[in-house]
Amino acid sequence: MEKSQAPIGVFDSGVGGISVLRELVKLMPEENYIYYGDSKHAPYGSKTLDEVRRLTGEHIEYLVKSGVKAVVIACNTATSAAIDLLREKYPDMPIVGIEPALKPAVLYKENAKVLVMATPMTIREEKFHHLMKLYENQATIYPLSCPGLPEFVEAGNLDGADLEQFLRELFVPYLGKVDAVVLGCTHYPFVRPMIQKIFGNDVAIFDGGGGTARELHRRMKECGILNTTGKKGVVRIENSKETPEEINLCEKLLSLPEVR
Ligand code: DGL
Repeated sequence: MEKSQAPIGVFDSGVGGISVLRELVKLMPEENYIYYGDSKHAPYGSKTLDEVRRLTGEHIEYLVKSGVKAVVIACNTATSAAIDLLREKYPDMPIVGIEPALKPAVLYKENAKVLVMATPMTIREEKFHHLMKLYENQATIYPLSCPGLPEFVEAGNLDGADLEQFLRELFVPYLGKVDAVVLGCTHYPFVRPMIQKIFGNDVAIFDGGGGTARELHRRMKECGILNTTGKKGVVRIENSKETPEEINLCEKLLSLPEVR
């Protein structure tokens, strides 16, 4: 098989990375994909750095052994914990990660007040501190750690009353005080309608899925490995839980209409 026809490996701690897979398929429908979600061990955001590095390393190794031509770490937490180590380990493999989409949120409005929602690990790690430093003179940035939120999405709960109450309590200090919200975890785009409802339509919401897809396209073009057969590609979904529920949920999330 020609390398350009090999699949792209997409990894997340669970079902959240489907929000990135959606963007990838939209931009590059002719590519083949293997999506691997580690729902058995989700959430990653409250684990130790060593655990997240080990789990991410094992699953990326599996994808590489499956013959992928490029890897997307569709998880902000795993990206901040492990991407540098993985790039060292696989120097010839294009590896693209995701980080909170702070730049468009800061540029959205002069002196914007920006709330960045992410997992405790993403907020704690050096990558995010570095990112914040780049923009802290242009905006007021409020990092908000959201432990407990990915669990709602893992359970397929995208609009329940308990989710609404959880989010309303989390947002109390920020309601009426921010211009933009960054969804710094790939699970959160699935609860975007609820977040928009709570903040109201005057608050702009940003996520990094589209930027990640464009970055992968750029890298693969540079390496000459874009699939140019013109035929629609195949998406294979796998999950460490190995129960049909996870795969069904992933398929449902993949087919949800996009909410902007
Ligand atoms: N989807 C992951 C991210 O983007 C986090 C979810 C988790 O804590 O496992 O950070």
